[in-house]
This record gives sequence, C-alpha cells and structure tokens, in this order.
Amino acid sequence: MNVLIACEYSGRVRDAFARRGHYAMSCDLLPTESYGNHYQGDVRDVLCDGWDLMIAHPPCTHLAVSGARWFKDKLQEQEEALEFVRMLMAAPIVSICVENPISIISSRIRKPDQIIQPWQFGHGETKATCLWLKNLPKLNPTSIVEGREARVHRMSPGPDRWKERSRTYQGIADAMAEQWGAL
Ligand SMILES: C[S@@+](CC[C@H](N)C(=O)[O-])C[C@H]1O[C@@H](n2cnc3c(N)ncnc32)[C@H](O)[C@@H]1O
Repeated sequence: MNVLIACEYSGRVRDAFARRGHYAMSCDLLPTESYGNHYQGDVRDVLCDGWDLMIAHPPCTHLAVSGARWFKDKLQEQEEALEFVRMLMAAPIVSICVENPISIISSRIRKPDQIIQPWQFGHGETKATCLWLKNLPKLNPTSIVEGREARVHRMSPGPDRWKERSRTYQGIADAMAEQWGAL
C-alpha cells in the first residue's frame, strides 16, 4: 500500500506503516525527526502522487476549541486553516483520515466519525482526538489502560511545547498501521 502521512514531522505513523512493509512517506514543512522517507515541503506538491491512503494531521492552532478565547482575533487565519482541511478532505485519494483535537472543524465542516483517546491505545493519558474518515473503518481500541492524566498539564512552557503536544501517540500510530494497513 502507498501511504502518505501529511503534516507529520515525527515520523511515527510513517514508520509504523513502513515496519509493516508498506511504502510510506511523511510530508511536513519541517524536517523529519527520525530517519525515514520524508518530503520536506508543502503537502500540495505531493497530494496527487498516487496514494492509496492518506493520514493527515493539519495544524490545529487556529481551529482547536481550547484556543476559543482568541478566535475573534484570528478570523482570517481560521478561514485559511479550514480551507486547508477542506482541501485535504477532498484530495483524490481513496482512503483518508484527517486527525485533529476537538475543533471548529466539527461545526464548520462536519462532525468527526470517531473520537479516540490515548488511554484506549496503551497510554494512560487523556487527549480527545477526532478522526474524519473516508473509506476507513473506525479504529478499534488496542489496549485500554488505567490513568487519565492530561499530558499537556505536565509540560513546562517553552518553544518546543507545541511539538511535544502534537506528536502522535505511538499506540495510535501502531493501531492505524495494523488495522488500516490490513485493508
Ligand atoms: C499539529 S502538527 C502535527 C504533528 C504530527 N502529529 C506528528 O506527529 O508529527 C501540524 C504540522 O503541519 C505542518 N504543516 C503545516 N502546513 C503544512 C503544509 N502546507 N504542508 C505540509 N505540512 C504542513 C506543520 O509544520 C506541523 O508540523
């Protein structure tokens, strides 16, 4: 299977698919953090390159409900961010998953097909993560564990905090590759 992981610098989902024998490429404006097949640049450059599956993690800075108090100051940015999500959802790829936290995508585009939590995939933490799915089944939980800590509350402020927060959980990356890679 040819799999594009859009907006991913960590390489976690890419490597989960690659380990299972798929051709997987991540794409981000940033360099990848780990050795692997990565296109550093705009995802629009590679969107039509013949993928079977795309998993996309578009930026949530202007969309996440957790930032609602700033919404009135960034209407333009918000519209652009929504347009980017619409473009990803409409990409000419058979199967698509767009991932984001609880965000205005739900009210402005459509409700998510599924909301998952890291504690359903082996991490004792909470972080509601919405999935908008095209031609993909819902993800089955792989390991429901105790612990309901919000990771973000343990993180000290700093320039890399957003990166720590937005890296895909390994258990979720593995579940995507295991379940969707087998379709
Ligand atoms: C919320 S982060 C997703 C991180 C991801 N979960 C991971 O584990 O690497 C969103 C990413 O989208 C990237 N991005 C924003 N606009 C982009 C574009 N036009 N093309 C490719 N990547 C883009 C940003 O650089 C950022 O790294």
